[in-house]
Amino acid sequence: MKDAVRANFDASPSDYDSFEEATGLFAFLARELAARAGIAPGMKVADVGCGTGLSTAVLREATGGGDGLTGIDLSPRMLGEARRRVPGARFIEGDAERLETILPSLSQDAVLYNACVFLLPDAPASLRGARSALRDRGTVAMNFIAGAYVDGRELFTELFPEWTGGGAHPAPRFPCDTSKLGEYLGEAGFQDIRSGTVDRELGLAGLRRFYSVPAQSASLYPKLEAAGRRAAVGRMFDLAQERGVRSASMRWAWLVASK
Ligand SMILES: C[S@@+](CC[C@H](N)C(=O)[O-])C[C@H]1O[C@@H](n2cnc3c(N)ncnc32)[C@H](O)[C@@H]1O
Repeated sequence: MKDAVRANFDASPSDYDSFEEATGLFAFLARELAARAGIAPGMKVADVGCGTGLSTAVLREATGGGDGLTGIDLSPRMLGEARRRVPGARFIEGDAERLETILPSLSQDAVLYNACVFLLPDAPASLRGARSALRDRGTVAMNFIAGAYVDGRELFTELFPEWTGGGAHPAPRFPCDTSKLGEYLGEAGFQDIRSGTVDRELGLAGLRRFYSVPAQSASLYPKLEAAGRRAAVGRMFDLAQERGVRSASMRWAWLVASK
């Protein structure tokens, strides 16, 4: 599972960053999450699943510099981009499910997972590690995909079966059951758990780009090779375009809690 996630993201940096250039989604999500987590100048923050550093760059702004930032990711190629994007931060190749072996205990003011936690098969282990890395009253914050909407209809439950004619999962599959994350936070010992959702219009072309990134198309068509997945996503969105779709947005859920 981890090898597949690493391989999919190792194949993704350029598509990932060109999607971001077109939509600004990940920086938008990171800004939202950092604000909800109360990230402020001078804080020490871990950016778990930092990817190409889009979220780390937002945290650099929020903390007033890169010195207090540690980005952690499984994918060497995503990390390569992150090191270029945020030269002042520290980046470590490592597994988010073993944070206690990466971050010294009581060393962080906040631990953020921007668009990462739903990729973790053992999210409870990751949250326990995050808690041990946090100082007392430190903050954990995460966000994850909660839906995609096309002209107000949910893409996967309402439109997908019709558009794909079968062959795809009725909803993207992720290794983590995100409906349980609140429970996992409580079990890991976090308190004062807050939650909500945020929507972002991407346009049909933007949503198409999102699901064309190799790491995203894998959640829809896990049995196809990257080229086949891209073609399948292309057919689906060509059909949507023919049907004159006007709006396409994503909904992301967030959770913030205190140690
Ligand atoms: C959707 S990207 C988000 C990247 C970044 N936070 C951003 O805002 O653009 C998710 C990242 O999580 C990383 N990831 C997935 N599973 C991981 C694990 N077990 N440990 C560390 N990183 C992981 C992937 O390699 C990928 O770079």
